[in-house]
Amino acid sequence: MKQKILFVCLGNICRSPAAHAVMQAVVDREGLQSQIEIDSAGTYGGHAGELPDPRMRAAAKPRGYSLTHRARQFQEEDFYDFDMIVVMDDSNYRNVERLSPERKCMSKVRRFVEFCSKYPDRTYVPDPYYEGREGFELVLDMLEDGCEGLLDELRG
Ligand code: 4NP
Repeated sequence: MKQKILFVCLGNICRSPAAHAVMQAVVDREGLQSQIEIDSAGTYGGHAGELPDPRMRAAAKPRGYSLTHRARQFQEEDFYDFDMIVVMDDSNYRNVERLSPERKCMSKVRRFVEFCSKYPDRTYVPDPYYEGREGFELVLDMLEDGCEGLLDELRG
C-alpha cells in the first residue's frame, strides 16, 4: 500500500517544498515511486499558489533539485489523506494540532529533526525566511540528512 507523507511548515515556500523535493529525489533514486507519495503544505495560507521562495530555489538548484511545487494551505482533511505529517518546528506542530479533528490524529504528526542523525543539538528546522544564504544552506543540509533517516524508517 502506498505511504503518503506530507511535509508542513509555515508558508510552504521555503522549508516544506524543499523537503518535498529532497524526499522526492530520494524516492526516485530508490525506485519507490509506486510506494511512497510526497506532498507539502503550509499552516499559513498567505502564499498559496506561489512557487517556492526564489532564494530557496537558487540554493536548491546546484544540489540538483528543481522546486516546482505551488504553495497550498494545510487543511483538516490532510489528517485523513496522509499517513504521516512531518512538521519543521514547534510552532508548525501547534498550528497543525489546532486543526486536528480528533486527538488520535496527532499520532501521525512527527517533527522532522527526529529523522536527522547529524544534528543532535537541533530541536527544529530553523525558518530561513529572514536569514541570509547560510540559513537556506543549513535547511537543505538538514533536509538531506533527515530524508535519509525518513527513508530508513519507511523501509522498516
Ligand atoms: P517557510 O518560511 O515556513 O519555511 O515556508 C516562511 C515563509 C513565509 C513566511 C514565514 C516563513 N512569512 O512570514 O510569510
